[in-house]
Amino acid sequence: MKSSELRENFLAFFKGKGHEIIPSASLVPENDPTVLFTTAGMHPLVPFLLGEKHPSGKRLANVQICIRTDDIDEVGDDVHHTFFEMLGNWSLGDYFKEEAIKMSFEFLTDSKWLGLKKDRIAVSIFAGDKDAPQDEESEKIWLSLGIPQKRIKKLGKKDNWWGPAGETGPCGPDTEIFYWSGKEKAPEKFDSEDKRWIEIWNDVFMQYFKSLDGKYELLSQKNVDTGMGLERILSAIGSLGDDYKTDVFWPIIKELEDLSGKKYEDNKKEFRIISDHIKAATFITGDRKGVEPSNVGQGYVVRKLIRRAIRYGRILKLSGDFLIPLIEKVLEIYSDSYPYLKAKEDYIIDVVKKEGEKFEKTLEQGLREFKIKAEKNEGKVIPGKVIFDLYQSYGFPFELTEEMAKEKGLSLDKKGFKEEFRGHQELSRTASAGMFKGGLADTGEKAVKYHTATHLLLAALRQVLGEYVYQRGSNINAERLRFDFSHPQKMTEDEIKKVEELVNEKIKENIPVVCREMSLEEARKKGMMGIFESKYGEKVKTYMIEEFSKEICGGPHVKETGELGNFKILKEESSGAGIRRIKAVLNP
Ligand code: GLY
Repeated sequence: MKSSELRENFLAFFKGKGHEIIPSASLVPENDPTVLFTTAGMHPLVPFLLGEKHPSGKRLANVQICIRTDDIDEVGDDVHHTFFEMLGNWSLGDYFKEEAIKMSFEFLTDSKWLGLKKDRIAVSIFAGDKDAPQDEESEKIWLSLGIPQKRIKKLGKKDNWWGPAGETGPCGPDTEIFYWSGKEKAPEKFDSEDKRWIEIWNDVFMQYFKSLDGKYELLSQKNVDTGMGLERILSAIGSLGDDYKTDVFWPIIKELEDLSGKKYEDNKKEFRIISDHIKAATFITGDRKGVEPSNVGQGYVVRKLIRRAIRYGRILKLSGDFLIPLIEKVLEIYSDSYPYLKAKEDYIIDVVKKEGEKFEKTLEQGLREFKIKAEKNEGKVIPGKVIFDLYQSYGFPFELTEEMAKEKGLSLDKKGFKEEFRGHQELSRTASAGMFKGGLADTGEKAVKYHTATHLLLAALRQVLGEYVYQRGSNINAERLRFDFSHPQKMTEDEIKKVEELVNEKIKENIPVVCREMSLEEARKKGMMGIFESKYGEKVKTYMIEEFSKEICGGPHVKETGELGNFKILKEESSGAGIRRIKAVLNP
């Protein structure tokens, strides 16, 4: 089956079941600074899973483009890629387990749809733990559909729980559907460790909310969130055993064979990394919220993808602009489904070309430098300073040096590198904090006060409205603060008053604002709010106002809350779906 046919079939099936088809959201989240990319179809739907009314109703389906970078180092095997499409259907407080499971099963096995053999299907369900009970309901439904007990496996949270997409948010137990990809008959008993059982679909029963302190509370509505990776299911239906042999990868691989004169079968790792990375870089650069290579946030990811693709190209003896014809292949594959990409073709090519030129120039020099250092350090560990110099002077991502070192059987002093890096980090930290906080360029005395007031405001909103409140944007100048946050409805007069009073109370208490550096791990454990995606497990700066407000943030802030004056909310209004905006001032 072709990818276009699969997308059409999937959407037609769910349309027939009363679902409204919604467009794929942007890869760069519109209003969520806590993550860099959309990682699942449910991600843009979080406000609606929490109870806000979706304009398209309670039954939705779509094909969502996603990027997951936590698997970037696994790219090169049969199934991992950073960019993928996710087929998903949702019930926002409408149907629940029975209908969801039956629909998944029908789509997979009915000859009108995918027609997969029932005797090649197995499932897993949630085994239960202290947070949620065993999912007996799903088990019964699967048995009623003819899935034998031996093909139903009960697994714990690690395997059968999905979400939240960020640090906190909606989540729940899931039931996962597996397909036997082996050539021989499927074994009677399902062994989830056997790699020939491929997980193809995940039905999540989102009825919990995970808070920052790790508690699971019941949501006001029971939702269904399903996710099926397009590449993986294509590969499974076609018995290809390799996602890269599907029609969303193969033309890129063929082009690479032509360009390099080498065969995919002999160079799988390089072919896979290059084709995955150029595809992801094309989609991120061409995103509606276009991103250019840089040293922070999403830009850093694009830079890493392009540079890694170039570096692997060199192993195939490819240099120069070899990525450009590959971009053209990506556009050919996707232009029907994502026409906006084709429209940005010139721009994408220009960005990738420029980044390639920048990298090529330094690559040669850097490789020479690396060779000298590697020889000098033969049989030893490459010092952190050398790794940092390669990073600083030649733009070698840490991972690149690591790969080169591995090839030579050398190891790296990662700790030493991190120390070197930290000294240089102020700039990039302030820049990422800027992405989170907005308006940080202004470090004047008044803006600094507004900055601290913003922390108090977020903490007060979470206390008054609930822990699902997150920062969605912030803008500060010397006259006022503007703060966007997730909240499904208009705040009442009473809520506004309570928030205002709480902030003023904390100002009156004249609490010291304590700045501390710590590892991201530690910050996470302490329940700090902020962006948890970062490079190199670096140290982060945190600001605490007693236990009331705890945030990862670049600062600066006032020393004590008493410096702020009187806090007054001027306006509370809508700022997009599920997002409210507050404008507030500090009076002397
Ligand atoms: N959100 C469901 C999944 O990613 O499988």
